[in-house]
Amino acid sequence: AASLKGRDFLGLVDYTPEEIRYLIDLAIDLKKKQKAGDGQQPLKGKTLGMIFEKSSTRTRVSFEVGMYQLGGHALFLSKNDLQLGRGETIWDTAQTMSRYLDGIMIRTYAHRTVIDLARGATVPVINGLTDRSHPCQALADYQTVLEKKGKLEGLKIAYIGDGNNMVHSLMMGAAKLGLHMAVASPEGYDPDSEVVANSRENAAQTGGSLLLTRDPKEAIADADVVYTDVWASMGFEAEQKEREIAFAGYQVNEELARYAKKDYLFMHCLPAHRGEEVSEGVLEGRNSIIFDQAENRLHAQKAVMAALMG
Ligand code: CP
Ligand code: NVA
Repeated sequence: AASLKGRDFLGLVDYTPEEIRYLIDLAIDLKKKQKAGDGQQPLKGKTLGMIFEKSSTRTRVSFEVGMYQLGGHALFLSKNDLQLGRGETIWDTAQTMSRYLDGIMIRTYAHRTVIDLARGATVPVINGLTDRSHPCQALADYQTVLEKKGKLEGLKIAYIGDGNNMVHSLMMGAAKLGLHMAVASPEGYDPDSEVVANSRENAAQTGGSLLLTRDPKEAIADADVVYTDVWASMGFEAEQKEREIAFAGYQVNEELARYAKKDYLFMHCLPAHRGEEVSEGVLEGRNSIIFDQAENRLHAQKAVMAALMG
């Protein structure tokens, strides 16, 4: 994986199945070493800039802690405090920051912004969530599934809810890693058709598959993994009320979960809205692995940073 050095991490779409597997294996290895008190510091003296245009708990803390553990330093940069917030161009921002930093992580709205930043930057750019995708979360999620189930290929993952950034990255990951994925979303909230087509193309090469349905029961049937996310993502808060109506019947609760495999894993990227997309009982239940997922953000992103910036 010397080939990962200097690359951007904008989406799983840009990574081969082998490269994704390499990152997951590296994450598991770094996790083991960190827990054994044998933390590696391949990024000693290096710096990561973290641009945030949206709120964050997990992404901010895990990137900052991860960079520290790898021997480097991370800078929290709120978009509004940067000249970017006053109209300095993405290009000039990228060029300038590349003179100081060894990598840039950005969380923003338009995916275009991340692409433009990567184009202007001479250091690796990492996507910390856009309206289109959340590849760091999906990478950590598949690491978590592998740890819990001992394999990925051939498993069935069901996603119930909004066709948003999260499902896009999960679909691409499932396709690249050979999982069968079923997505149930209400009309008007389907995943992006381009991502669907691209995922299906990739799935055809790995033995995976992708099913889209309106029926949550069909999607969740015999699933090994059940995933959901909020009905109104950041930037869509104004649609909360109409979305609550559209998503009625799409809650992951005890009744729906009966159709999944008995030992299914419940997953959610968090933050969760209890009683909306998921019932309290499922979220807190014994099948739930939400905090293992959250923890693995740290280890998965350390792998990405070590591979790209090391
Ligand atoms: N899952 C996730 O990205 O969480 P934050 O919004 O807290 O970073
Ligand atoms: N889909 C959610 C994920 C948050 C981590 C959002 O974009 O707000």
